[in-house]
Order: sequence, then structure tokens, then C-alpha cells
Amino acid sequence: MIISSTTDYREAARRRLPPFLFHYIDGGAYAEQTMRRNEEDLHALALKQRVLQEVGEIDLSSHLFNEALGLPVALAPVGLTGMYARRGEVQAARAAASRGISFTMSSVSVCPIEEVQPKSDRPIWFQLYVLKDRGFMKNVLERAWAAGVRTLVFTVDMPVPGARYRDAHSGMSGPHAAYRRILQAMLHPGWAWDVGVCGRPHDLGNVSAYLGKAITLEDYIGWLGNNFDPSIGWRDLQWVRDYWKGSMVLKGILDPDDAREAARFGADGIVVSNHGGRQLDGVLSSARALPTIADAVKGDLKLLVDSGVRSGLDVVRMLALGADAVMLGRAYIYALAAAGEGGVARLIDLIASEMRVAMTLTGARSIAEISRDSLVNAGLTP
Ligand code: FNR
Ligand code: LAC
Repeated sequence: MIISSTTDYREAARRRLPPFLFHYIDGGAYAEQTMRRNEEDLHALALKQRVLQEVGEIDLSSHLFNEALGLPVALAPVGLTGMYARRGEVQAARAAASRGISFTMSSVSVCPIEEVQPKSDRPIWFQLYVLKDRGFMKNVLERAWAAGVRTLVFTVDMPVPGARYRDAHSGMSGPHAAYRRILQAMLHPGWAWDVGVCGRPHDLGNVSAYLGKAITLEDYIGWLGNNFDPSIGWRDLQWVRDYWKGSMVLKGILDPDDAREAARFGADGIVVSNHGGRQLDGVLSSARALPTIADAVKGDLKLLVDSGVRSGLDVVRMLALGADAVMLGRAYIYALAAAGEGGVARLIDLIASEMRVAMTLTGARSIAEISRDSLVNAGLTP
């Protein structure tokens, strides 16, 4: 199959993965309206073409949280990555490091921190949820620090998991799910051998190491529902800020008031995100939410954004709206599922070369030169 874009990687991933995994990745919450708008609203932003600007060499490099970035992109935390490719977190972390960007490990990864960090040439970032078991939170924070992690991505938009209708139909959950998954695996032998057999153990590596027993895919959805804590507030989060000596980034902010609160709280950065449309369907797309948030807090903390980014042109659009860096979610997961570490490295290269074209034709030589002036109209109204 010829691969020239994220769309092709998505199709390759669809062919390779058993449907319960493909739809878990590809789907969103409820009617998936926000998920669709994330992409549509980005596409609606017109880049301003400028010609004969003597652009010459393009410099994609930047700095974030005391780290140099080859391009202002990071891989977003994605649960169960080790189910999409053999020891998938290791492969993704290595691909990111080879291109000078950061990989964020999800709390609910298959591989534990201790397996991934030593195999990556860069410090990985670690993502944590607000969990009822504060002992677990403390335990993973300690382990992450000991392994060399210095950037904590704290996800605040999942006090409860949003319902994803596709999961019930695909065999991810719902009646006879375990049997349906086995049947699907048999019909996808490439995946079944590579990941299903050779990619074991399939549990939540970080959680099992703490509990001393395996949390398997069977318990996954139930574990999320039972362990997330909807009672959390800013005050309760303070101990994490006091405890964590590295950079702390709050992920899942969509409102300028919350962004200001994050700055007062002492966050080093935020990720403007609606979790890829997987949580509250009907909320603003990230592209619509970002400009007002940038106006509210730009300069007070680092501004990251995700949800809907599928190309280097989308990255440039988000930077033009005020982001300092952009996270890739599904885009890199499709590449990982389709072609492993090499696929993710190639996807990052594609994004970089698309960014170079967009920057040349908008007249920006460096990341700092991308601004709202790179767009025809300064953004979409919320
Ligand atoms: C996610 N996301 C996510 N976020 C997080 O903080 N912790 C997690 O464990 C997960 N797990 C997860 C699984 C899957 C399959 C997906 C697709 C997403 C959300 C992720 O970090 C990011 O916010 C979105 O993926 C961004 O949207 P796009 O780029 O996928 O449209
Ligand atoms: C998800 C969780 C794991 O989006 O964040 O599926």
C-alpha cells in the first residue's frame, strides 16, 4: 500500500488491527460531533500565501520545558499503545527520540515506565490522571522521577470517561466481548502473531507493577470507570504541584478562565484539548478554543494544543493560533499500528516536510515567525 499521508496510515491501520482496537482509536464520544469539528475547523482556517519572501532555509527547532525540540511537536499520551504494535510504547518513544521530539507515556500504557525509558535516548514525558487511589499516583510519580522523567502531563478532562458508542458495537466492551475479540484476532493473523502472541504481557504495566497483580484488557474499561475521581478540585491538586519537582502541564483545558486558573496554580504549561472528541461531545473544537486562551495566558505558561491535527499544515495552523507546540494523537497511532517505529518516524518526517512547505509559502523562516498574520483571518470565533 502506498503511504503518503495520515489518511493512508489510518487505512493501513484499519486493515491490520482487529476492529475492536481500530474503533477504540478511531472513535469518539456520543455522536462524535466534536471529534469531526476538530478536523473540520482546522481545515476551515485559511493560511495566508505570501510569495517572494526570500525565505531560504527553514528552521523548525524550538525549546520547551528545558528541552530542545527538532520540531514543535510531541506525541500525546494514548492508552493501550502496546496493543496497537508490539511493545508499542517502546517503539513510539524510540521513533520520537530519533526525530528530536518528546513521547508522552499514558498512565494506562501496556509497557511500564521502567521498560520504556531506558530504551529511549530522550527523557519521556509521563501522563497521569486524577485517580481515587492517591497511593498509586504517588507511586508512579516516584517511579517516573527515578526513571528520569522530568515532564508530567496531568490530564484533567477525564474525571469520568465519556461514552463511546463504537466500543459497545466493536467488541471493546458489550456482550460476548472476549469471544468477539478472539474471533477478530483470528481474522487478523498479522496482528495476532506480532502483537497478540509476541507482544505479551498485555496488561496495564504501570498499574500492575503497583498492585502486584495484572490488570488486563478484560478489566480495562471497568478499571477506568471505577478509579477516576470526579470529586477533585484545584485545591486537591496542590499536593501534586508541591510534590513534583519537574515541569507540570495540565491537559484538557478548553476555557480561558480555566487557563488563567492553571497559570495561578503554577502550571508550567497547558494542553488545550478536548481529548480528541472522546469526552464531552458538543464542546468546542481545539482550533476554536485556542485563540481566546492564547489571548488570556500567552507568556504566563507554555501553550500546547491537540485534537484534530493530521498534517504539518495543521501544525502550522495551530502555531498561528498561538500554540507553542502541538501534540499528535491518532495521527501517530495510525502510523504505529500500520508500520511500527519506522512508521512513526516517517510520519514525523512527513509532518516536518509539510511544515516546511507551509512555512515557505506563508513567508515564515522559523517557528517564532509563525503568527496570526500567517492566517487570512485571525481565527474562528468560538
Ligand atoms: C487518547 N487520549 C488520552 N489522553 C490522556 O491524557 N491519557 C490517555 O491515556 C489517553 N488515551 C487515549 C487513547 C486513544 C486511543 C486516543 C485516540 C486518545 C487523548 C490524546 O492524548 C489526545 O488528547 C487526542 O488523541 C488528541 O486528538 P487527536 O489528535 O487524536 O484528534
Ligand atoms: C481514552 C482514555 C484512556 O481516551 O484517555 O480512551
